[in-house]
Amino acid sequence: MRHESIETNAGLLVILTLVVIAIGGLVEIVPLFYIKGTVEPAQGVHPYTPLELRGRDIYQREGCFYCHSQMVRPFRDEALRYGHYSLAAESEYDHPFLWGSKRTGPDLARVGGKYSNAWLVQHMIDPRRVVPESIMPGYPWLMTRPLNDARIVERMRALKDVGVPYSETPAEYEANVKRFGEQMAQMLDIRHAKVNLERQAAQGDYDGDPAHLTEMDALVAYLQALGNQVDFKKYGQGYFVRFR
Ligand code: HEC
Repeated sequence: MRHESIETNAGLLVILTLVVIAIGGLVEIVPLFYIKGTVEPAQGVHPYTPLELRGRDIYQREGCFYCHSQMVRPFRDEALRYGHYSLAAESEYDHPFLWGSKRTGPDLARVGGKYSNAWLVQHMIDPRRVVPESIMPGYPWLMTRPLNDARIVERMRALKDVGVPYSETPAEYEANVKRFGEQMAQMLDIRHAKVNLERQAAQGDYDGDPAHLTEMDALVAYLQALGNQVDFKKYGQGYFVRFR
């Protein structure tokens, strides 16, 4: 009876509908105001180095996220397959995040360190070289395209604008030394972005061809940096540990 009186009174129906939507909206939006307190910090998480950042751009450009997610969900089967479930803090510096939802291929959130650089390079050029039954497309041009690092400074500044702690002043640099250690702080210094990018590529030798700085260097550096920043032995309470 009461329902009928609401449904036959357009004004009342509109007002009550708005009230219900407002409650739903508040429940979704209000926690975002407290996001700093909601996301527990995790030791070891640091922003991407310039080379990894370019690799991430290429990952987006090539649409790897069409087939790969980057979020291990807190379920037993996922933890057994991929490792500890993803923490919010691990995506802290991802703008935009690349969690994805489509898994034609496996989740890549913890792929860093799972394979050698050489395996990843062969797999990128033509996945069937190492996984005969693979349906993943090859990306052989990454091996020949020189890495365009011309706008790395602008890219880092843009991320700094949305809160990623890259440094550009001596004070910011010092703060990063305290937070991430000296070696990482140097990597996160915008003033030396290009030099750092080239140095990491040369030292890491990601594509097996030290003479050329290619897009493959950047992509492999990025993949190898995924999901191994947090030392989960220190955290002990995760599903992964409990299930084992
Ligand atoms: C059409 C869907 C598709 C696209 C697009 C795709 N992949 Fe894959 N990927 C797969 C499938 C399926 C597998 C599993 C078979 C294999 O290992 O090749 C896979 C496997 C992988 C693996 C091995 C993961 C593991 O844990 O064994 C990596 C690394 C990877 N892909 C990276 C990439 C990157 C980087 C890109 C973008 C340049 C990309 N993939 C684009 C489908 C795709």
